Amino acid sequence: MTGPDQQADLSPASIDAIVAGALAAFADAASLADLKVARLAHAGDRSPVALANRAIGAIPGPERRDAGQRIGAARAAIAAALAEREAEIGSAELEARLVAERVDVTLPVALGPAGAPHPITALMDLMGDVFTAMGWEIAEGPEAEGEWLNFDALNFTPDHPARFTSDTLFVEPLDSHVVMRTHTSPVQIRSMLDRPLPIYVVCPGKTYRADEFDATHVPVFHQIEGLVVDEGISLAHLKGTLDHLARSMFGDDIETRMRPHYFPFTEPSAEVDLKCFVCHGASVGNPDAPCRTCKSQGWIEWGGCGVVNPRVLAACGIDTDRYSGFAFGMGIERTLMFRNNAADMRDMVEGDVRFSRSLKGMAR
Ligand code: DAH
Repeated sequence: MTGPDQQADLSPASIDAIVAGALAAFADAASLADLKVARLAHAGDRSPVALANRAIGAIPGPERRDAGQRIGAARAAIAAALAEREAEIGSAELEARLVAERVDVTLPVALGPAGAPHPITALMDLMGDVFTAMGWEIAEGPEAEGEWLNFDALNFTPDHPARFTSDTLFVEPLDSHVVMRTHTSPVQIRSMLDRPLPIYVVCPGKTYRADEFDATHVPVFHQIEGLVVDEGISLAHLKGTLDHLARSMFGDDIETRMRPHYFPFTEPSAEVDLKCFVCHGASVGNPDAPCRTCKSQGWIEWGGCGVVNPRVLAACGIDTDRYSGFAFGMGIERTLMFRNNAADMRDMVEGDVRFSRSLKGMAR
């Protein structure tokens, strides 16, 4: 090392040794951090080459130029070696990082859980398909419905209890006479007013009633309505149609029965029951083997039906001498309960995808 007051050794051998020392140190550096240490030692302000550079001024005349050139060349060589090593280590470190942090984009990734069609939607489609396969059409109507279409045109008297606010959700203001439809039957009226005869339609959709929300009631539910108006239509056509629907939904073994009932818009009217698929009637009169599903009745109620009341046909301007019809309507939720053993209606509205997925195999 050369102090400021000493005669510096700027001989070619000494300068070469300085350069060789620097190059060896750079080559030894294995990381950018090592190289930083080597740079300070061999190219920094207090490095041998910097000190040699500073000593040039003290050299007498003729030798000064040679020494200046040598040291200039040495500084350039050191700077070039440093830059080269820096690039080398930099790209090696980058390479190592790329390998270490490599992501295999072809690996399967955990996606969010897949959804499934809601069982109510799927079942409504499935029931609709039974009819479109026979050439019937799907008809739809609004959920907020005119009171006249929901009740009056269907032959409900003005004081019929179904109109009470305890059963029906009225849309404010009350004198708008708009209700949330309590059944899909108003779509019958819309179909008769809008469509040319003969009519073969099913009307699936949402319906509303002022009901509590519990295991067997939901205030917003779904029905599917059927309506046929043609020449020579009788109760026998209705029975055959319902049996076909029941077999399509529950299998060929299902038994149905029609039990006399009253609906304002059909005459005669009936409720359609399914043979209890749990006890198959064995619980009837047998207190030792009661059945919870049918309450030991042997049958469970599925929906309502009947021959279209001529007053309803007449309200829609249909010639009752020439045309007659039948109609039916049943709950989709009820059908799902029976068909897929879905005991609690709350599962149908809570939107847990596991419920939907558990019934995924249902449709088609
Ligand atoms: N609309 C009735 C209800 O919601 C069901 C019904 C009964 C529909 C008889 C019909 C029918 O088409 O003919 O309870």
